[in-house]
Amino acid sequence: MSSGYKMPDGFLWGSAVAAHQLEGAWDVDGKGVSIADVMLAGNKDTPRVVTDTVEPGGNYPNHRGIDFYHTYPQDFKMMKELGLKAFRTSIAWTRIFPNGDEAEPNEAGLQFYDNMIDEMLANDIEPVITLSHFEIPYHLVTEYGGFSNRKVIDFFVKFSDTVIRRYGDRVKYWMTFNEITNQTAWMDPHPMLQNSGLKDYKEDEAQELMYQASHYELVASALVTKHAHEIAAELHADIQVGCMLSMNPVYPASTKPEDILMAQRAMQTRYYWGDVHANSHYPNWLKNFWQHKGFHLDITKEDETILAENTVDYVAFSYYMSWTVSDTGDEWLEYNEDENHGDNPFLEKSDWGWQIDPVGIRWAMNWMWDRWHKPMFIVENGFGAYDKLTEDNQIHDDYRISYFQRHIKAMEQAVALDGIPLYGYLPWSGIDVVSASTGEMLKRYGFIYVDLDDMGEGTGKRYYKDSFKWYQKVISSNGADLG
Ligand code: BG6
Repeated sequence: MSSGYKMPDGFLWGSAVAAHQLEGAWDVDGKGVSIADVMLAGNKDTPRVVTDTVEPGGNYPNHRGIDFYHTYPQDFKMMKELGLKAFRTSIAWTRIFPNGDEAEPNEAGLQFYDNMIDEMLANDIEPVITLSHFEIPYHLVTEYGGFSNRKVIDFFVKFSDTVIRRYGDRVKYWMTFNEITNQTAWMDPHPMLQNSGLKDYKEDEAQELMYQASHYELVASALVTKHAHEIAAELHADIQVGCMLSMNPVYPASTKPEDILMAQRAMQTRYYWGDVHANSHYPNWLKNFWQHKGFHLDITKEDETILAENTVDYVAFSYYMSWTVSDTGDEWLEYNEDENHGDNPFLEKSDWGWQIDPVGIRWAMNWMWDRWHKPMFIVENGFGAYDKLTEDNQIHDDYRISYFQRHIKAMEQAVALDGIPLYGYLPWSGIDVVSASTGEMLKRYGFIYVDLDDMGEGTGKRYYKDSFKWYQKVISSNGADLG
């Protein structure tokens, strides 16, 4: 199938992962314990449990990942064969500052990423780096209360400055906080824990705390953007810093005007982070809402100046699904993501209940462009599914190919027809990794199959899925051949 569209020259076709989901080697070469290291495996019906310490005998899937820490040279060879032009991963904060508050970085951790980045470049793959992808040092959670504490801004900025200075000559694209927008969802384990390191809080204080921690993250992100631009000037390098939003369009459940109004507020609520990152200030509706709720946030004049002067260079986002919302009758239009959102009768779902909505990607790109006027980067999109390894070592994942065909086509329409500037497309996850929400290995997203199960049993061998050959053609035709 020809899409009829070709992406511009230099378009970055690639894939994306995060350190904690694939590296393994959780306590090697001086690495400290991150929040991901105290999360037991769950599954689609059972949430992941967060333990107070690493409990002996517990099934902690992020401790082993897919052992990428040791296998990356061979894995990059396969990715080169796939034709990847870019690879997004994160730098595990706890490899560089094991507890998060040390005075000096851990040289062994820095060296590891030196080697990994060089290996990518040797395979003609451009590194794209996330600074914080659900991996806050656990010590910062237990001793400081995560990002509810202003001091953690300094720790994050120090970590970021250290790695941007070290790798800035080789890494152009950086992102600060992965899916910062997740924090409006009150699911289990709460994204406030994974994103911001907020653990033991009272239920009735959660919402205010979420806004406070998010504010400190936004200030930290703006400071990192500022420093990165200064470092770029010193290194004579081209460095760009983006935000990273989880883009789930929220549509009105019907054409009833009250539903449409509610859907507008749902989008405003989920994407106010983008407004601050890209437009430099908090929207009025949100300031009024905080007042109505009696929230007293620590937002100083100096913070406001930092936010105003240091907006992001681009907007990166993940895209998996869309939702609907109905009117609740509340004049403040308070949006509670878990209680108020519903199904869309026009859409199918994955085995994990994620609604499949290719058209939404084009809708979302237009919505963001109109709002922020920043170039975009799709840094996640993909289909989690149970794959079957046949006796002759094949994986026939036509369902994944079909998902990508439809999403890529909609993305290409947004670029070719709607004129939206897009740096690249990095589907999740290139190679199978541990699922972030459930901790399963069997929720697979890759073009490369990894022979490991939820208990970490298996050979660890890599196999080509049918989608591998398919994506190879997409890349070599620059998006014209969708199979
Ligand atoms: C995004 C995260 O939410 O979605 C990734 O940035 C995650 O870390 C991906 O893996 C897919 O979600 P899951 O829960 O199926 O792994």
